[in-house]
Amino acid sequence: MCKIFGYSIKLTILLKGSTIMANNTQKLVYGSSIFRKLMSSLNTKFQFRLLSFYNDKKIIDLIKIVKKQVDFAFYPIEAYHVYSIAKSQSKMDGEMAEVGVFQGGSSKIICEVKNGKELHLFDTFEGLPKVSEKDTHFGKSYWKTGEFSNTSIESVMDYLSSYKNNFFYKGKFPDTSDPIKNKKFSFVHLDVDLFQSTIDCLEFFYPRMINGGVILTHDYHTDGVKQAFNEFCKDKKIPQIQLLGSQCTITKIE
Ligand SMILES: C[S@@+](CC[C@H](N)C(=O)[O-])C[C@H]1O[C@@H](n2cnc3c(N)ncnc32)[C@H](O)[C@@H]1O
Repeated sequence: MCKIFGYSIKLTILLKGSTIMANNTQKLVYGSSIFRKLMSSLNTKFQFRLLSFYNDKKIIDLIKIVKKQVDFAFYPIEAYHVYSIAKSQSKMDGEMAEVGVFQGGSSKIICEVKNGKELHLFDTFEGLPKVSEKDTHFGKSYWKTGEFSNTSIESVMDYLSSYKNNFFYKGKFPDTSDPIKNKKFSFVHLDVDLFQSTIDCLEFFYPRMINGGVILTHDYHTDGVKQAFNEFCKDKKIPQIQLLGSQCTITKIE
């Protein structure tokens, strides 16, 4: 009886939270840090439940482990999208790359399913490059130059050392892109937060994607990332598929 009562309270909180979220998400979530933490925690719990309803336990355990090991700010469903798309693309020709590695959270998810493919990992490992006036978040400035500097190439190399065929590049992309200029890619994960970094990545990688290759980005809800995709995709008439959460994906069709 007590258990049922407990579940019903949890369910009520979850449902109330979801309704409030749906009604006025941005204002509530970004207006108060306490509310943000509460909603983030409820959202994470709810998304784990949803994932366990539809998917095998392996991915849920993997996301939980990564969240314990490193600072990894992806919601479970966003991490699942990285896992699911990388897994499916691992069966195609071409290598994989990620720009925006930070402490290696999303890189580890890709490593788990890359099926021995080369994974080329790029980051300044010194935090975000210069933030511009385009890099707003729901219309307000948000990112800070140098943010995410609490990492190092050595610590990420160590974290991913059990996986084969990983290649690490320290510095500002695309300055570091020369070693991969003749490669083709089936999957590229972008998590660079900024307009200039995103457009530079799209210009470099899109022509190097195989037919059917997928580029997935995080933080598409931010103004800079969305503007970079819109500008890049518009003239080429590339469809952008926005996913649940903050991600968007494009596919190269020749
Ligand atoms: C939000 S963090 C990435 C988070 C990571 N994917 C994870 O799983 O936790 C964004 C990263 O993008 C990197 N970054 C942004 N623009 C870059 C560029 N042009 N070249 C290299 N790294 C860049 C920053 O250094 C930062 O570590």
